[in-house]
Amino acid sequence: MNVTPKLVIGNWKMNGLREASLQLATAVAEGARSLPDDVRMVICPPFTQLDRVAEALEGAGASVMLGAQDCHTAVSGAHTGDISAEMLADTGARYVLLGHSERRQAHGENDALIRQKVQAAEAAGLIPVVCIGETMAERQDGRAATVLASQIDGSLTDNFNGVLAYEPVWAIGSGVTPSREELERTLLLLRGLLQSRLKMDDIRVPILYGGSVTPAQAPTILSIGVLGGVLVGSASLEARSFLRIAEAASLRLSSQPLSGPYRS
Ligand code: PGA
Repeated sequence: MNVTPKLVIGNWKMNGLREASLQLATAVAEGARSLPDDVRMVICPPFTQLDRVAEALEGAGASVMLGAQDCHTAVSGAHTGDISAEMLADTGARYVLLGHSERRQAHGENDALIRQKVQAAEAAGLIPVVCIGETMAERQDGRAATVLASQIDGSLTDNFNGVLAYEPVWAIGSGVTPSREELERTLLLLRGLLQSRLKMDDIRVPILYGGSVTPAQAPTILSIGVLGGVLVGSASLEARSFLRIAEAASLRLSSQPLSGPYRS
């Protein structure tokens, strides 16, 4: 069976001291050994834990890769407190999250800035994971489609070849997720928007879903065939729950469950 692997990305946000980070990343790497190769995991720890997690993932190959949560637009220079994409690549990171709603909201990041970050990430050889999503107010006003269209137009580069993560702001950390039907409709919309933004019929950009993904929700969400994977926040802070979500992403496992240390 030749399938595009599903991506299961863990966003640790501002969590993770030295010892706990090492233990968590090591447990994920161990558990991922029993996963089929139709799933790829990515761990995005805080900057201070990148080296430590990189060590823990040595030998994990493509089954668990390293990612980061943000980068600056410049390669180097007088930018106190910032980290460049090149520095991330230097730690072994392969992916970088960009435009997460928490950065859009708390750091005033706009689409133009995010697009510059995407360019910086691409130049450093990283795979950008661009996050977009509407707020509850925008959803209730019937403006979700317009908001998503302008985020896609503004934050992607013309030849964007990374990953798009649809994360409705109202679903992040709230325990609420869109229904399967609603998510399917939005994915169809996003595919159309990507086609017109990138002027291509054959869009290769995987679309992930993020927002309150848990082991309980994951099988329903991941049963949507066109979904490229999931972006997981709090449930990625525990190896067992993160691995169970990865199991749910595997077509091979969902048809023939494996017994393993992380199955309930
Ligand atoms: P959550 O976070 O899974 O804790 O809702 C998702 C995210 O913010 O990427």
